[in-house]
Amino acid sequence: MFLKTLGLLLLALVGVNLGWRWASRRSLPCPTWLATFLEGSLMEWVLGTQTTLDRIGLRPGQRVLEVGPGPGRLLIPAARRVQPDGEVVGLDIQPGMIERLKARAAQKGIANLTAVQGDATRPHFPPAHFDVIWMCTVLGEIPDRETALQQYYTALKPGGRLSITEIFPDLHYQSLATVQRLAEAAGFRRQAMHGPWYFFTVNFVKG
Ligand SMILES: C[S@@+](CC[C@H](N)C(=O)[O-])C[C@H]1O[C@@H](n2cnc3c(N)ncnc32)[C@H](O)[C@@H]1O
Repeated sequence: MFLKTLGLLLLALVGVNLGWRWASRRSLPCPTWLATFLEGSLMEWVLGTQTTLDRIGLRPGQRVLEVGPGPGRLLIPAARRVQPDGEVVGLDIQPGMIERLKARAAQKGIANLTAVQGDATRPHFPPAHFDVIWMCTVLGEIPDRETALQQYYTALKPGGRLSITEIFPDLHYQSLATVQRLAEAAGFRRQAMHGPWYFFTVNFVKG
């Protein structure tokens, strides 16, 4: 009986996962109500927030963009890392996430953070504008990933860094092979790889 229930549960989880991934071929971003789940210090620890930021390799004075920041789990501490002269921008498609990001940044007294509502495939930033662009558990939520990565290639300064982090079992998890294929097709060159397959960060450089 126990094994049967466990089997059914696993089957249901696989079904939800496959259904969600299939639906995401159009656009099905992580729901806004999940923002609360991403905000707590427990999730910061579970999802390796500081480790991810270390791997991205931010430095004071940089101008950086996070695509799909949600409520700012990574972007808010990143804003502190690029101080005193640096600035961070978060681009998210959902107004609810942007509102939450703005409110949290204001609450924590972060002044060098700009929150922009918009689509990852149409970022509208000037060419050669950013030192670093990163995404964490977002690439798989973007239906036209090829166009998005081409846009980031243009928006990065020469020698700028694209950093992509994937965490399993995120419903939109992308394998290292897929990430690398997409990034190289956009013109990026792989620079460094950190972590195991279930929590990896891969950095690329604009060649
Ligand atoms: C799973 S959450 C990850 C949030 C954050 N990166 C983190 O790791 O805590 C994915 C975020 O990407 C955003 N997103 C999904 N599709 C997007 C798109 N096409 N353009 C911009 N943001 C998008 C969602 O609104 C959501 O805030």
